[in-house]
Amino acid sequence: MMLFLKLSLLTLIISAPGLIVSRENMITCYSHVQRLTCETGLIKVKSSVYGRTNSITCNTNRPSSEVTNTNCALRITTIADRCNGLKECELKTELLGNPDPCYGTYKYYNTTYDCINGHLVVICEQGYSTLDCGSDSIEIINANYGRGNSRTCSNGIPSFQTQNTNCYAPNTLSTVAAMCKGKKTCTVEASNTIFNDPCFGTVKYLTVSYICTREIVTCESSTATLNCGAHRIKIISANYGRTDSTTCSSGRPASQISNKNCYTPDALNKIAARCEGQSSCEVPATNVVFSDPCYGTYKYLTIVYSCV
Ligand SMILES: *[C@@H]1O[C@H](CO)[C@@H](O)[C@H](O)[C@H]1NC(C)=O
Repeated sequence: MMLFLKLSLLTLIISAPGLIVSRENMITCYSHVQRLTCETGLIKVKSSVYGRTNSITCNTNRPSSEVTNTNCALRITTIADRCNGLKECELKTELLGNPDPCYGTYKYYNTTYDCINGHLVVICEQGYSTLDCGSDSIEIINANYGRGNSRTCSNGIPSFQTQNTNCYAPNTLSTVAAMCKGKKTCTVEASNTIFNDPCFGTVKYLTVSYICTREIVTCESSTATLNCGAHRIKIISANYGRTDSTTCSSGRPASQISNKNCYTPDALNKIAARCEGQSSCEVPATNVVFSDPCYGTYKYLTIVYSCV
């Protein structure tokens, strides 16, 4: 059995030709290096499981006692936290710090991921860069200040300052999202004054990945028009209902706008089925399309989408 298997699953996901470029799977036997890459697009992990769910994978030179338990699967997020939004990502699995889900069994890491369209910015320490969505809004996919490999931002730097490749400032994503989410442009700085120094003595860099989105709000019984020109529509989120009392409220009695807890759980799927992959698309904001989620309330349709 090979130590590293790379199975390229059905490369084109037909239902979402816009955002997902390809879907990949990577198996890595415990203590080895897991490498995820996207030839086109950015990594977005769908699932990472640490454990053993069959007896054949990673069984080379292992006694049967270590490979017979096939009922061991711990879902982990550490790989997504570190790799999402990057074009390539190498992790020494021993350093992930996951708890042992089945002592005595030889385990492997099984990660399934998509390559999605998006922007990636890499800023070396003490640099600045501006995320720019033109007339659209910034939606951050992931961010890290630290160092995940020794190559990035290393030109002319002594090697002892780039050797620590397991350096992650824990609050980078929330900090960058708080600064940039929803804005059209946003300048970010790779610096210890913004992110607490996660590894003193190591030269660091900031990676930020993002997509550009637009939001349209359509009052009940009107029709939403999504338009991506030469690009294709990808639906990010959607709701038909009411979550505040001000939107689409003019001329309405209080009884029709006081419910702020009205949601259509499958709105996203319905709109995606109708619009995704098209260059333009119309969605009526009506009970006929969505079924009435809150009878008696005057509703509106909110759609966040991206042109990819
Ligand atoms: C890896 O995970 C995927 C998705 O959960 C699953 O379909 C596949 O069988 C797993 N592969 C192995 C070798 O465990």
